[in-house]
Amino acid sequence: MSQILFVSAEVAPYSKAGGLADVAGGLPPALKAYKYNATNLSPLYGSINCQKFKLKETTISGTVYLGKDAYLYKIWSNDDESHWFVHNDEFFGRNGIYTDARGEGFPDNNLRFFFFQKVAVDLIKRAHINPKVVHCNDHHTALIPLMLKAVNENAATLLTVHNFQYQGWFSSDEFGLLTQDEQNLINPVATQHYNAMELGLHYAHHVNTVSPNYAKEILEIPDWSFGLFDKIQSIKDKFSGILNGVDYSYWNPQYDSHIEHRFDVENTFGKKLNKAALQVHCSWPVAPDTAVIGNISRLVDAKGYPLIIDILPDLMELDVQFVFLGTGMEAIQNKLREFANAYPKKIAYFNGYDEPFAHLIEAGADLFLMPSAFEPCGLNQIYSLKYGTLPIVHETGGLADTVENWDGETGTGFSFNQHNSQALLETIVRAIQTYQDKKSREKLIQNAMKKDFSWSFAAKKYAALYKSLES
Ligand code: ADP
Ligand code: GLC
Repeated sequence: MSQILFVSAEVAPYSKAGGLADVAGGLPPALKAYKYNATNLSPLYGSINCQKFKLKETTISGTVYLGKDAYLYKIWSNDDESHWFVHNDEFFGRNGIYTDARGEGFPDNNLRFFFFQKVAVDLIKRAHINPKVVHCNDHHTALIPLMLKAVNENAATLLTVHNFQYQGWFSSDEFGLLTQDEQNLINPVATQHYNAMELGLHYAHHVNTVSPNYAKEILEIPDWSFGLFDKIQSIKDKFSGILNGVDYSYWNPQYDSHIEHRFDVENTFGKKLNKAALQVHCSWPVAPDTAVIGNISRLVDAKGYPLIIDILPDLMELDVQFVFLGTGMEAIQNKLREFANAYPKKIAYFNGYDEPFAHLIEAGADLFLMPSAFEPCGLNQIYSLKYGTLPIVHETGGLADTVENWDGETGTGFSFNQHNSQALLETIVRAIQTYQDKKSREKLIQNAMKKDFSWSFAAKKYAALYKSLES
C-alpha cells in the first residue's frame, strides 16, 4: 500500500462547514480498495468532542515558525490512526472552523492555516509520515506544494479545488511571516496580490476540481474563476475534473440513524412517514398530497437565493410547502424569515447548522431545490437522489453531471438551463405537476433511488491519478 497524506481544513464527522468535510471523510477510506492508504490531517478544533471520538494525544510534537515566532504543535489521533489532528489551542482551541458564532471570519485565519500547512510540511520533513502523494484541498492547504519545494521535499502534490470562489488572499504583512525561500518561490508567481490558490495552481503537480463539467466550465467561462482564468489556462495540461462520491453508509435512508422511519427502493412507505414527521416539525398541516420542497445550504448568493427570493411569492397559490435550513448571509436569512412569517403554512425557515434535521429534510421532502448559479459538484442533490427526493437544479457544474432532466419517460429530477427567475419558476411548477401525477412520480423515485454515486468510482480515478504522479 502506498501512503497518501490527505490534508484538509475540515473532515466529517469530526469537523464540518460544508461539502469539503464530506469528501475528506468519504474519499480516503475508499482508496484502500485501490491500494492506497490515506492518513487525514486536519486541525483539532475546540468544537471536536475528543472523548466521544476517542481521540488521544500521540508522542509526535514539534515547533514551526511564522516570522520570528515559534509555535508548538502536538499531534492527536483516533484509535486506528487514520486521522491525525493538529493541536494548538491558540489557533484552533476556539469553536468555529472559519468563523465565530456571529458568522464573522476570524481575523487570524491566514495565520491559522499558514501554521496548519507548516505543520504538514514539518511532519514530512521529520519523516513522521512518508507520503508518496500529498493530497491538498482548497486554499487552506494550497501553499503546501511550494512550502515542500522550499525545504527540498519532493513528495508529489495534488491540489483539489472544491470551489474557485474562495482563494485565500493574504497581505504583504502575512507574506513577511513566510521564510525567505518561500518568499523567493512566491515572488515570480504572485500577480498583484498574494493568493494561496494561485500559488497552489502553480506549484501543485496536478490540480483537479470536483466534477468534469465544472472543470470544463472553468476553462471556458472567465468570470467563474474569480480572477484566475489566465492562470488556469496556463496550467490546463495538469488540470482535470473528478466527480465526488457519496458515503452510502451515512447518507442512505436504509440505514440512516438520524431518521425514525427507514426505507429503500423496494419499499418507500417509510418516506411517507418521514414526510409527515417533517410537516409536524415545520408546524404545518400534515398533508400527504402536498408537494414538500426542501433546501439545505450555506446562505450565499451563488446557491441561487436571489432567484428563489424573486419567485417564492408567485408559488404560494400552488399546493406546495417549502422548508429551508441554512445559515449565512444576513440579507438572505431576513428574506426567508419574512416569507416564513407571511406564509406560515407553506414556508418554514430554520436558521442554523443542524445535521439530524438535514437528514429529515432529505428523507421527508418530495423535491429538493438547488438552483445554484454555479456548483463545483454539490452533494445534497446526490444525497437527495438516494432518498427519492427529486432534485430541481440549474444545469451547471456537478448538478448537470448528476441529475437527469425528466422527459416524461426517463430522468431523475428537473433541470433548467438559463439561470433566471422565470426558468426556475417554470421548472418548479413543472416539478410540482409531475409530482402530482402518481405514475410519473413513482417512476422518477425509482430512477433516482437506483442511481449509484459511491466513492469507489472516484477513488479509482484518484488512485490512477496518484499513480501517474508517483512515477
Ligand atoms: P457546499 O460545500 O458548497 O456548501 P455541498 O452540497 O457540496 O455544498 O455540501 C454541503 C454539505 O453541508 C451537505 O452535506 C449539507 O447537508 C451540509 N449542510 C449545509 N448547510 C447545512 C445546515 N444548515 N445544516 C446541516 N447541514 C448543512
Ligand atoms: C465545495 C463546493 C461544492 C462541492 C464541495 C465538495 O464546497 O461548493 O459544490 O460539492 O466543495 O467538493
